[in-house]
Amino acid sequence: MDKGHVELEVCPDGVAIITIHNPPVNSLSVPVFLGLRKKYEEALKRDDVKAIVLTGAGDKFSGGFDITSMQGFQKANGDDSSISFVSVDLQTNMVEGSRKPSVAAIQGLALGGGLELAMCCHARLAAPKAQLGLPELQLGVIPGGGGTQRLPRLIGLPKAIEMMLTSKPISSEEARELGLVDAIVPAKDLISTARRWALEITNSQKPKIVSLHKTDKLEALGEAREILRFARQQTMKRAPNLFHPLKCLDAVEVGIVSGGLAGLYKESEVFRECMTSDNAKALVHVFFAQRATGRIKGITDLGLKPRPLKKVGIIGGGLMGSGIATACILNGIQVFIKEINSDFLQAGIDRVKANLMSRVKKGNMSEEKFNRTLALLRGTLDYNDFKDVDIVVEAVIEKLPLKQQIFSDLEKVCPSRCVLASNTSTIDLNLVSEKINAKSRVAGAHFFSPAHIMPLFEIIRTSTTEPQVLVDLLDFGKRIKKVPVVVGNCPGFAVNRTFFPYTQASLLLADLGLDVYRIDRIIAGFGMPMGPFRLADLVGFEVGVASGMTYIEAYPDRVYKSKLFPLLMEEKRLGEKTRKGFYIYDERRKAKPDPELRKYLDKSRSLAGVMPNSKPIQLSDEQVVEFIFFPVVNEACRVLEERVVSKASDLDIASIMGMGFPAYRGGIVFWADLIGAKHIASRLNQLYKTYGNFFKPCAWLEHCAATGQPLSTKVDNNVMSRL
Ligand SMILES: NC(=O)c1ccc[n+]([C@@H]2O[C@H](COP(=O)([O-])OP(=O)(O)OC[C@H]3O[C@@H](n4cnc5c(N)ncnc54)[C@H](O)[C@@H]3O)[C@@H](O)[C@H]2O)c1
Ligand SMILES: *[C@@H]1O[C@H](CO)[C@@H](O)[C@H](O)[C@H]1NC(C)=O
Ligand SMILES: *[C@@H]1O[C@H](CO)[C@@H](O)[C@H](O)[C@H]1NC(C)=O
Ligand SMILES: *[C@@H]1O[C@H](CO)[C@@H](O)[C@H](O)[C@H]1NC(C)=O
Ligand SMILES: *[C@@H]1O[C@H](CO)[C@@H](O)[C@H](O)[C@H]1NC(C)=O
Repeated sequence: MDKGHVELEVCPDGVAIITIHNPPVNSLSVPVFLGLRKKYEEALKRDDVKAIVLTGAGDKFSGGFDITSMQGFQKANGDDSSISFVSVDLQTNMVEGSRKPSVAAIQGLALGGGLELAMCCHARLAAPKAQLGLPELQLGVIPGGGGTQRLPRLIGLPKAIEMMLTSKPISSEEARELGLVDAIVPAKDLISTARRWALEITNSQKPKIVSLHKTDKLEALGEAREILRFARQQTMKRAPNLFHPLKCLDAVEVGIVSGGLAGLYKESEVFRECMTSDNAKALVHVFFAQRATGRIKGITDLGLKPRPLKKVGIIGGGLMGSGIATACILNGIQVFIKEINSDFLQAGIDRVKANLMSRVKKGNMSEEKFNRTLALLRGTLDYNDFKDVDIVVEAVIEKLPLKQQIFSDLEKVCPSRCVLASNTSTIDLNLVSEKINAKSRVAGAHFFSPAHIMPLFEIIRTSTTEPQVLVDLLDFGKRIKKVPVVVGNCPGFAVNRTFFPYTQASLLLADLGLDVYRIDRIIAGFGMPMGPFRLADLVGFEVGVASGMTYIEAYPDRVYKSKLFPLLMEEKRLGEKTRKGFYIYDERRKAKPDPELRKYLDKSRSLAGVMPNSKPIQLSDEQVVEFIFFPVVNEACRVLEERVVSKASDLDIASIMGMGFPAYRGGIVFWADLIGAKHIASRLNQLYKTYGNFFKPCAWLEHCAATGQPLSTKVDNNVMSRL
């Protein structure tokens, strides 16, 4: 694969234009770094070159350090000299320290290493609406090309810290106001203006500013320390499991205390340290895994193109239907919602309006945009408008005869190319499509509630779903800004199924005498958005019990049946919506532990009879994490074994997007592989001996434990024939 190159062109006016070529984003690969070095050497040596303009080919400056080479570096465990190309020498000595001035001509993007390079230049001109930022922390590393030093010197500490800690880019207009950019220039004049600017620096008509030596924007030492102290405090609160944001602040501080050069050395030391950390490996894995969910062997490699998608029909304007409709119209897709009577229809449309309204209220959508968006939505009570829909999503209640009727109606009224999707969760898709002829057009569409907010979209294929339909649904998922994952047809599909032991293991721990609030604290501390009991309250016990039943029926060999939910439900404690579940809730829905819970716990424990000698078991925090997540890993292995997902990284993404598993742990399978199958299987075997089948390691896990093969290597070579 072409990994990019750099070109040099010397203009008659004596300006050398150095251009980075590496589509699509001109990322800084090793060949690009080598090319930059070579072309800079040449430009500095040549007598006919007076000044330099640095730019990117096409419509982007540079998207930053090449993330694929980051992976190479991680695999080599830091033992790779290529990394030194980013280092102090090229940027500080050749670009910034050179006698000949450089001007960066920025269009489109200047992110990460791209912006760092631009900051070494003696001036920066940008086209309107370009994005400038240092998003490195998102990948578990810190800016490694001087960003921690030069950005604070150009725009001051508070804003620089904010940009690094949040990874959020700013526009060229904002950058101009902050002083990161010297002028905004229309794209067509960018290069010519930059050339002139560079010559003016040469002639001393414009200042030659060395970012690393600038101090006018820096706060005084005392104030700077106070800003850093506050930033550290916030970071520890917001991301207690991450160390790299703190390391980034350390590098900033060294620069402020001991000067820019000392800061650069500290920065490169920290950069190397972070690069090979588990968090960086996990986050880089997630970066690629997320982009790979749409690539599926045997489906997306057949040369099929998604068919045009303009109109979506939605059957049922309930919670799901209105959420899906909201996601569609927000992304410019016309929607017809069909309901059974005008009251329900109005209620459905009102829900969509309310979804949009909440954006308007947050100041995130103008009234005009609200009007335009809503105009894409139509309600209907019949199928007249379904003659030219491209995709239909059925989202009615879970009643088999009703769904079957709808699908035979749809087959009659919709065009033959139309994709027919069902949001069924508890009913087998094969039954839903039993009565129709065109089974190849049918697939499942599983959104996570609320559908217009949650990013994951599980596309369920049956043994008869044709590849074109999946290609269309993948495209649909992307159009509505979801992360689509294609999964096989099994109870719970990929995410809910993998995580059913999560709730059950937690219930078992409660029955073994562990404090439920402590369990929640430990699991939230691990990085989940909330603990399992708080989640059960949020979802509601009725839903929880209904899905629990699905697994008890589907996987009776490995379930734990606690009495705790039924006991609570007997007294109308149904979770957050009744303001009483495992927690009690005040008007503002703030959760508080409930001393009364004790009596239900005692009863459940005595009914369960699993507590040895009626004494609560003693477990460390780490053991609690293992007790709850190792059975989840075990089920994940079954999901891989049964080819419910076509690759392990899809399940990683699904666990992150669907359950909120922390991205910095890389997803459920990636995390398990970091721990190692051997340890997981041995721990599960101990638990299996004490508590039975719920913990019994499956064949794939045992195989990997015995051979040392990573769990993630269960790749699928023949997906279609297995499902
Ligand atoms: N270098 C960094 O520290 C860093 C970190 C995060 C994001 N980014 C940049 O932010 C931009 C926006 O992110 P997005 O997720 O919205 O973009 P995106 O998903 O639209 O990315 C565009 C395409 O370029 C590829 N790509 C992007 N950056 C790449 C890189 N540096 N190396 C190799 N391939 C790359 C992506 O895989 C994708 O195919 C990207 O262009 C990316 O370069 C940079
Ligand atoms: C507004 O919308 C943008 C993009 O859709 C999002 O990133 C941001 O978080 C939203 N802000 C609020 C306050 O919801
Ligand atoms: C939006 O539509 C409403 C009702 O049709 C109308 O009163 C209002 O003026 C519109 N607002 C804008 C900004 O177009
Ligand atoms: C998955 O779980 C959520 C809540 O936990 C539930 O609302 C949804 O119906 C479940 N879906 C499936 C397919 O089991
Ligand atoms: C399907 O839609 C109905 C109606 O909104 C909803 O009750 C059900 O939970 C949805 N099922 C799934 C799997 O999303």
